[in-house]
Amino acid sequence: MSGNIESVLNETRKFPPPEAFSKKASISSWAQYQALHAESIKNPEKFWGEVAEDLHWFKKWDRVRNWDNAPFAKWFEGGKTNISYNCLDRHLDSWRKNKAAIIWEGEPEGDRKVLTYLELHRQVCKFANVLKAQGIGSGDSVALYMPMIPELAIAMLACARIGAVHSIIFGGFSAPALVDRIHDASTKLVITADGGFRRGSVLKLKETVDEALKSCPTVKSAVVVKRSGNAVTMAEGRDFWWDDLMAKADAVCPAAELDSEHPLYILYTSGSTGKPKGILHTTGGYMVGTYLTTKHIFDIKEEDTYWCTADIGWVTGHSYVVYGPLANGATTVMYEGAPNAPANDRFWEIIERYKVNIFYTAPTAIRSFMKWGDEHPRKHDLSSLRLLGSVGEPINPEAWMWYHEVIGGKRCPIVDTWWQTETGAIMISPLPGVTPTKPGSATFPFLGVDVAIVNEKGEELGVNQGGFLVIKQPWPSMLRTLYGADDRYKDVYWSRFARQGWYLAGDGAVRDADGYIWILGRIDDVLNVSGHRLSTMEVESALVAHEAVVEAAVVGFKHDVKGEGVAAFVTLGRGHEKSPKVSDALKAHVRNMIGPLAMPDQIHFTDSLPKTRSGKIMRRFLRDVANGVETKGDMSTLEDLNVLAKLRADEE
Ligand code: PRX
Repeated sequence: MSGNIESVLNETRKFPPPEAFSKKASISSWAQYQALHAESIKNPEKFWGEVAEDLHWFKKWDRVRNWDNAPFAKWFEGGKTNISYNCLDRHLDSWRKNKAAIIWEGEPEGDRKVLTYLELHRQVCKFANVLKAQGIGSGDSVALYMPMIPELAIAMLACARIGAVHSIIFGGFSAPALVDRIHDASTKLVITADGGFRRGSVLKLKETVDEALKSCPTVKSAVVVKRSGNAVTMAEGRDFWWDDLMAKADAVCPAAELDSEHPLYILYTSGSTGKPKGILHTTGGYMVGTYLTTKHIFDIKEEDTYWCTADIGWVTGHSYVVYGPLANGATTVMYEGAPNAPANDRFWEIIERYKVNIFYTAPTAIRSFMKWGDEHPRKHDLSSLRLLGSVGEPINPEAWMWYHEVIGGKRCPIVDTWWQTETGAIMISPLPGVTPTKPGSATFPFLGVDVAIVNEKGEELGVNQGGFLVIKQPWPSMLRTLYGADDRYKDVYWSRFARQGWYLAGDGAVRDADGYIWILGRIDDVLNVSGHRLSTMEVESALVAHEAVVEAAVVGFKHDVKGEGVAAFVTLGRGHEKSPKVSDALKAHVRNMIGPLAMPDQIHFTDSLPKTRSGKIMRRFLRDVANGVETKGDMSTLEDLNVLAKLRADEE
């Protein structure tokens, strides 16, 4: 970690929020933030109870927070609510009834749609009735494997409306990945589309679903949106067109009055083993957390047009394309396709067309934009922008500065937001009207978030000392468990600091002399590829499942666009010779088993892997080889020094 620490501590630039911005911001002074933060930590029940009053509850809670059975939290216990109601019905008695809820743009040019709150409500109610007619009830799991089209948001809100639990699977995952997730959640129904547009071609989602459903007996039916018009096979009695079902559906469907702790969704994310973790979020706390973070961190104003570019298949899309903005009655932009389709200025064209005010994207995208050149954003009027956001990985100061200057015209604050699928909502971030930002720092904890940076023993570390990032108190939008795996939940997040009862985030961090928090990256065998988590173990298991491979080790290396790239070290079995053809076959294999995101950038063939005497693969040596840097540090535990020398020689 020390290399990272040195580089972050060289950053001395500081950017205070523009005065005009602060004046209008929902939290507008450092003193106000400090007072609110102190109060929220000292008296969380009072703080969160007051926040929750902004939202609609069919029945008020008996207790704001129940941590008696830690680490299993309950928030707003005894309360009855519905997030779909809060995102839709709550706005219909006001002028927001006819406000744009979703402004959607498809990838093919000219493909546009605006859904007002009233219209979105109507569609959601109809689809909720479709779900019921398909035999889906409260607590049933529904998988969504869809492109970024309005029907995805409609399906989510419809599930939430009747208490069904959605499990959204990113459209880039392959059939085996889909099967794993469907099995784990005992999914009854899959919602998909014939295909989705991505960079000019059609991603054939229905085909992948057909492949997956060959081994998913729990799935009784599939609903298919007609989007791309490619030919698909519809299984008689199992597959139904969205439009056909919607045509017959009633538009009245009252929102179910659900317990605050009723499960809302499962979202799978990679951990440090080969099996993805089903992060479980529940209703009331998640709703309150996404509501409040959107309100203050994005400083959403009634007249703003807000665009978060994340795919809804990831948590950022759940919390900040759909639930957070809609709970605030905001206008959220949703774009289906790639940032370079048909040309490298697509995002800037969208910002100009809709006069987007708040724009939230990922460092990996920003680095691509930098590569493509300033001429693309310069072609467009970006003067509507007033606030920028970043998420998914540490943003390197160069990318931050470019974002600030070229996209933000030096006038927009940047909120670098640190959080995780597990946290449900943003945890560490500047407040745009308050916090002077430093390029690359996520700055300070949000309201109600009690963080610390500690060593192995749980002792708080001082200035410039890197350590484990922990969260010391439960928070409303936290995960409740790993679906069907309570023990793994305890083990992964709560065992390292069990005595203290702290949540282990899995990231390293450091505080500078001004108290700013800098995130240093993962401390486990999890990579961050283009802002998405990828388990090295998952890629390794995919590789060893290939007939040519006997052993594989996967590590990350520094990649100038993706942040981290995937490097695989592979030992082939007898009768298999290393060759570019085998290398390509292995890449394709990983792509088929997991998805394009996991495809190795580098394949190194090796006769053996560097191991300790007890047989553990020494990944740090492999990391050095993949990064093309010299190996430093203790090599005494290495079983066979020759292995490393040979690996190096093979590289030359
Ligand atoms: O390592 C951190 C990194 O992304 C991880 C969470 O990944 P995921 O659950 O897929 O959620 C991504 C979007 C919330 C974290 O453990 N990460 C996320 N945001 C930042 C970040 N690292 C540094 N700075 C950030 N702003």
